[in-house]
Amino acid sequence: MSAYTRREFLEFLGYSSAAIGAVTMVGCKKKPSQQSLGQLKAIPAGLSKDEVTLSPGFSYDVLIKYGDQINAKESFGFNNDYIAFLPKGRNKAVMWVNHEYPNPLFIHGNVDNTSKTKAQVEAEMKSVGGSIVHLKRNKAGQWRVDFTHPDNYCVNGLAEIPLIAEMPIEGSKTAIGTFANCAGGVTPWGTVLTCEENYHDMYGERVAYNKREIKSSKYSYAWGKHFPYPPEHYGWVVEIDTTQKTAKKLTALGRFAHEGATCINAKDGRTVVYMGDDKAGECIYKFISDQKGSLEKGQLYVADTTNGQWLSLDIKQQPSLQKKFKNQTEVLIWSREAAKTVGATPQNRPEDIEINPVNGDILVALTNNKDTKDYFGSILRIQEKDGDHLATEFTASTFAAGGPETGFASPDNMAFDNNGNLWMTTDISGSAMNKHPYAFHGNNGLFVIPMQGENAGKAIQVASAPHDAEFTGPFFAPDGKTLFLSVQHPGENSKSLESVTSHWPEGGSNLPKPAVIAITGPMLEMIASS
Ligand code: FEO
Ligand code: CA
Ligand code: CA
Ligand code: CA
Repeated sequence: MSAYTRREFLEFLGYSSAAIGAVTMVGCKKKPSQQSLGQLKAIPAGLSKDEVTLSPGFSYDVLIKYGDQINAKESFGFNNDYIAFLPKGRNKAVMWVNHEYPNPLFIHGNVDNTSKTKAQVEAEMKSVGGSIVHLKRNKAGQWRVDFTHPDNYCVNGLAEIPLIAEMPIEGSKTAIGTFANCAGGVTPWGTVLTCEENYHDMYGERVAYNKREIKSSKYSYAWGKHFPYPPEHYGWVVEIDTTQKTAKKLTALGRFAHEGATCINAKDGRTVVYMGDDKAGECIYKFISDQKGSLEKGQLYVADTTNGQWLSLDIKQQPSLQKKFKNQTEVLIWSREAAKTVGATPQNRPEDIEINPVNGDILVALTNNKDTKDYFGSILRIQEKDGDHLATEFTASTFAAGGPETGFASPDNMAFDNNGNLWMTTDISGSAMNKHPYAFHGNNGLFVIPMQGENAGKAIQVASAPHDAEFTGPFFAPDGKTLFLSVQHPGENSKSLESVTSHWPEGGSNLPKPAVIAITGPMLEMIASS
């Protein structure tokens, strides 16, 4: 965890001890990003250690971990995922962090879902959603959590959240709780979008459109036994205003296993949101807002990547939807069925989406799909016609494919740095990690893919995660000098508290805890800050 000394770093770059005195760090910082990438040393392939291993020139600090008190009554939730860093001047910031799902073993100890008490379910409900914590720089200029800030708070599985919809959904315009919060996005006006992904794990899902029966999922947390809320209240994108302390569920963006929601303003000032539905055989969506500064109303499209078309999901424009659904609200609730009805292309688990700041290309992480024998996944590139985010036509091609030859597998979250390099985390599931055909990869990792220069398109691994964990939510501070990163589900394969598979981050005999880390270091600055 210790930061590299200047001497160690210069030695790593190949300067002799005698020359070190003559080299200034200012000189190093002026090296262009491409040259820095040539000096970047990948970590050894296939690592499986119970620690965060980083390339030379990078270091990390744990900012906040599960259970840390953020105010008098609330603590930092479980399985932190998406991170949004919202600067408030040079030395202060607000950080939103998603909490995706609970692990009953570490939350209350009862791993038998059929015998869970109401209090145990409530504890799980409080462990998910999101946390808002305030950050400030310390004297050394490093970002740290201000645990005493009066405006730290949580939005969890018990919060009352309005459903912004044309009509009541299951008789209500309010939902209780947000959970399964996977990735997200930041709007051009500085609010956060947090995405409800595997919502069916909590309250199940109707067996089909127009059927009332609810089916539990394979990994059910069985909350419905104590809290019988309708599945239709979940699976939405939720907009969080951390300043006003408000939240709302934006039904116009559709309902599915929302991974993330990546925003960009179109040439006319309206906002376009790109979204993936993280399930094998599901689709890629695009939303175009009706008005500037609001995502409450707009047009939802789904991708036909075979023919390069964005297909409208507006019932007024699609006779096939009129035949199947009563109104637009039902189309939105049943987005997956509507997408298939209009002819959208099934994909290999669309996860995070990022837009290349240099050329406007849209990159979509397709994690994997055992059903189509795509074990290692790929990154799909979508280029809108004439570079216009309002276009209904595009071209699609593979940007990078995972596998032993390229060194990565199952791409998930992504982020661009200030020099246009793509950073990517991998999501090999706990049950598959370090086994055939993923053994070459070792634990999950963090990679950087240069977009220019001699290493363009090559994935270079810069970090490896602790046992059973996944890195999620990479988010750069605006100066590119700090990379915030979630370490999610360390020790997830533990069968009991007496035999845990990870002790990260506290080590010794401590229980594992999901945590947010801040990665810094001279190599990060050289590559990622402009
Ligand atoms: Fe929650 Fe798609 O990962
Ligand atoms: Ca994810
Ligand atoms: Ca991202
Ligand atoms: Ca994932």
